[in-house]
Amino acid sequence: MTSETPAFLATQAASFRHFALHECAEDPLYRAICLAVAEAPELLGLMRHAPGRQRRPNLLLAALHERILSGAAHELAAYYPSVGGTRLPDAGLPELLLDFADRQQARLLHQLRTRSTQTNEIGRCAVLWPALQQIAHLTEREALALLDFGSSGGLNLGVDRYRYDYGQFQLGAPAAPGRPSIRCDWLGDAPPLAADSAWHITQRLGLDLSPVDVHDDEAVRWLAACLWPHDRERALRLDQAVALARAAGHAVRQADDCIAAIEPWLDTLPAGVQPVLFNSWVLAYFPPEELARYQAEVARLVRSRGLAWLSAESPSLRPTALALPPTAPGASPHSLWSLVWRDRTEALAWSHPHGRWVQWLG
Ligand SMILES: C[S@@+](CC[C@H](N)C(=O)[O-])C[C@H]1O[C@@H](n2cnc3c(N)ncnc32)[C@H](O)[C@@H]1O
Repeated sequence: MTSETPAFLATQAASFRHFALHECAEDPLYRAICLAVAEAPELLGLMRHAPGRQRRPNLLLAALHERILSGAAHELAAYYPSVGGTRLPDAGLPELLLDFADRQQARLLHQLRTRSTQTNEIGRCAVLWPALQQIAHLTEREALALLDFGSSGGLNLGVDRYRYDYGQFQLGAPAAPGRPSIRCDWLGDAPPLAADSAWHITQRLGLDLSPVDVHDDEAVRWLAACLWPHDRERALRLDQAVALARAAGHAVRQADDCIAAIEPWLDTLPAGVQPVLFNSWVLAYFPPEELARYQAEVARLVRSRGLAWLSAESPSLRPTALALPPTAPGASPHSLWSLVWRDRTEALAWSHPHGRWVQWLG
């Protein structure tokens, strides 16, 4: 474990220190773990087993968290709120961390070699819901067919089954036990459309290069491990969304070329439904030539097949014809929600990447 070159260890140590100081403001446990890792060559050496693009502190944090969530009995678990721990980071943490990593080494290495940090954030549905309502209103079609491109586990396909609480008003399904209730601050004056613009989803499909199977307990535990241990609200709604998705059985398909699968999906739809292609936090994974291919194919299908394209991505990945709307409040990064349909290209909203707030522009 400690046979790595000094240069490799120094690079990794700098990366963990940087992460601790700049990314962990909300989570003192992750800050303490990253600082402890930065001082421990044995732990830094583990990163050699992660593929180059995944060699980031997030991956080791998720791998450790996954072992904790699996129920591994160890004193380190006392620091993790996700398993009921209440111990605050203290001087005992570095030694416990080293001992835990040593005992769990085989499983940790397996996760580092085979996993990538993956999320499926249903907080985004707090913006997806009014965006779909807007599309139904604009296209004058109540029946929508939703294709979630880069869907991960397909949890955002359940958008019409969740409850949304914006403070002064609520949208979505009625509150019920076991139903995710997503809190989202609605910023600015623009209200959502009136409730009389009814819509429903008649067809839904997820497509992903590496989908998460919501029926696979280990895969779901990895999704949960990628959440941060202090964030009990996200963990609860993930559990609830997975339970709903298991019961609903939404189709999520793996495809090595998801772009080529869009038009065949359109061919399956009955007349009269409005097809909606949705991508959220996916385009950043595309190499430039694949991004250009996706944009060209979507533009063709918007023109020739009446597709509505709803995109929630970083502003730099907005549709080429869209001028940047006035900046959103607060700190970056933000998601910019855009819609392309017929000859219209418009900005619908700014939002927090996980849907904590939305500033509606539509
Ligand atoms: C950050 S996750 C976002 C998942 C989901 N859209 C959400 O909002 O929670 C990015 C997803 O894009 C998928 N992905 C990456 N490259 C892809 C590609 N070329 N085609 C299809 N899916 C891809 C990944 O497997 C992953 O599930």
